[in-house]
Amino acid sequence: MGDLTVLGIETSCDETAAAVVRVGESGQAEVMSSVISSQVEAHAPYGGVVPEIAARAHVEVVDAMVLEALSRAAIGFEALDGVAATAGPGLIGGVMVGLSTGKAVAMALGIPLVAVNHLEGHALSPRLAEDLPYPYLLLLVSGGHCQLLAVEGVGACERLGSTIDDAAGEAFDKIGKALGLPYPGGPALEKLALGGDPERFPLPRAMVGRKDCDFSFSGLKTAAARLAEAARSEPDRRDVAAAAQAAIAGQLAERTARAMGLYAGRHEGAPRRFAVAGGVAANGEVRRRLTAVATEHGFSFAAPPLAYCTDNAAMIALAGAERLRAGLTSPLDVAARPRWPLDEAAAAARPTHAPGRKGAKA
Ligand code: KG4
Ligand code: ZN
Repeated sequence: MGDLTVLGIETSCDETAAAVVRVGESGQAEVMSSVISSQVEAHAPYGGVVPEIAARAHVEVVDAMVLEALSRAAIGFEALDGVAATAGPGLIGGVMVGLSTGKAVAMALGIPLVAVNHLEGHALSPRLAEDLPYPYLLLLVSGGHCQLLAVEGVGACERLGSTIDDAAGEAFDKIGKALGLPYPGGPALEKLALGGDPERFPLPRAMVGRKDCDFSFSGLKTAAARLAEAARSEPDRRDVAAAAQAAIAGQLAERTARAMGLYAGRHEGAPRRFAVAGGVAANGEVRRRLTAVATEHGFSFAAPPLAYCTDNAAMIALAGAERLRAGLTSPLDVAARPRWPLDEAAAAARPTHAPGRKGAKA
């Protein structure tokens, strides 16, 4: 089949993104372009993503993003072998915008369409920047998702654990808001926590010692938000931020350690590889704790560059190209899905997700 050049489109939350990725027969990926139009400023006054504003903003810029991605890749539409668009999970209005755009391109050019699960995009994202062979263990931590996945290949992700309430990024954002920080709270909270004492304020240590690989952040989030509201002085605010960050990073590390044990048992004798993806992977303390856990359990550690950690279309194009090579294309009437668990069997057997600010945490 040779090289495959795929256009990716991502509109499931508050970023309108397009990218062109070329994947060789060996699976080697080259990101030819990746462009993003962020809506953060449009949502900032509301302290979170407003679905209706997001959908309208996607409509306004998606065409320009697609043209920009092609222009930066220095190719025309005729060079594309396929088009991949996020079909869920996410805010349905936005998902429909990107998916319809993908359908239009596929129909006009007579090339295959691949409807991509946003979570599969994140799951494969570490492969954009380095040669990370399957299988590997992945921690996906973002504003909408928190789960541990055994990534066996494209279309073959097993969910080992998932949050039973909030996502880790959501906890960072809510605690940041209580501290009076701008949205999104994660990066600002990390800055505030610099030099803070993480030990001064004790926070609940949820899930620690539990035998499964699930997460829970709502108790921690509420307790930290209460402390944050009471914190007046700068040193108090710093210490609350440091405590919240340490508690979140600590839980991520403890749950990941458990998943590593489970994963290693199932992949006896195979190389032990671990990767982290999603916006929260940008956090220095989270990376430090995860690196330590990986070393302790004999796992290699991979983390994509920040641009591929947060929402982007290169990861969607990559998942699309791998699916295209595997013959996993979609009909032009494929529907957008607000909820779409990556591992449908695990989600049906253990439905841990609850509705949240971004709709789906499945
Ligand atoms: O992956 P992403 O861009 O969007 C989703 O798909 O959710 O992740 C955004 C999330 C936000 O909750 C943001 O606060 C968090 O990632 N985040 C961070 C940091 N940078 C981004 N959280 C903690 N520390 C950071 N440095
Ligand atoms: Zn995402």
